[in-house]
Amino acid sequence: MNLEQRKDLLGLRDMSREEIELILDTAIPMKDVIGRDIKKVPTLRGKAMVTVFYENSTRTRTSFELAGKYLSADTVNLAVSTSSVQKGESLRDTIKTMEVMGFDLMVIRHAMSGTPHYVARNTRMRVINAGDGTNEHPTQALLDMYTIKEKKGTLENLKVAIVGDILHSRVARSNIYGLNKFGCEVRVVGPSTLMPPEIEKLGVKSYYSLDEAISGVDVINVLRIQKERQQSGLFPSLDEYARLFMVGSKRLAKAKDDVLVLHPGPVNRGVEISSELADSSQALINEQVTNGVAVRMALLFLMMGGVRDEINN
Ligand code: CP
Repeated sequence: MNLEQRKDLLGLRDMSREEIELILDTAIPMKDVIGRDIKKVPTLRGKAMVTVFYENSTRTRTSFELAGKYLSADTVNLAVSTSSVQKGESLRDTIKTMEVMGFDLMVIRHAMSGTPHYVARNTRMRVINAGDGTNEHPTQALLDMYTIKEKKGTLENLKVAIVGDILHSRVARSNIYGLNKFGCEVRVVGPSTLMPPEIEKLGVKSYYSLDEAISGVDVINVLRIQKERQQSGLFPSLDEYARLFMVGSKRLAKAKDDVLVLHPGPVNRGVEISSELADSSQALINEQVTNGVAVRMALLFLMMGGVRDEINN
């Protein structure tokens, strides 16, 4: 499948390595645009996109909106909490309403896994999955991969540990699907109650000791403890979780000296990552956010028919 001919971006599981490489390569000139005094290119003039988030977001929604604006698309956010969804409007009717207004592309986040796939089947608009339940968060994994490649120079054959709530994490799943395509050794580690059964079938090694999991790794991707998705009893307390699995500077001694620390945000300081590490130069949390704008610009450009020559204007 060629990304330029792909109608929707729903996940990395069914995306080819070549498509991922095209997105990451296209994000390089987009990052250059973000660094200019005038952060605007005309390439998506006349195109319209809408962000529809049924779950809260700071980074993903804002960066999609900003990415669209930098490329001169008309961008609108449907504020679900003040929309007619609150009067009982169905998802299908909301989608149709956006479609007949003339939007070319919808970015959607929903608490239920599979919702963007349903939307994609029922609209002529292009659809980007901005996170569906516990399934996938493909654009987060793409920006994580861009950040790793920018720092390491390659994605090839790296050792990457993903730490924390693997059970509920769409970020973990998309990273696993993406990194496996580049021959990475992906390790997952967390409490046994937050480890999905048969996770190794996804091509990862599972660990229950943080020190063992991060031994010799190039990258540690620390996941957020998703308090909103926890059923009671999955771990005794946040203090207990922090004692066993919180990533802090001292614990990094087991990893490679130049280990990169990623976190998708928002951060629970003192739970999954220490405040001191989160604010250190070893953690790339802020760079990930900047790269998220560039990667989302690349996706919008590729999916809405941007013209390459106009990136330099
Ligand atoms: N990483 C991430 O998806 O953050 P938001 O929930 O703020 O979009």
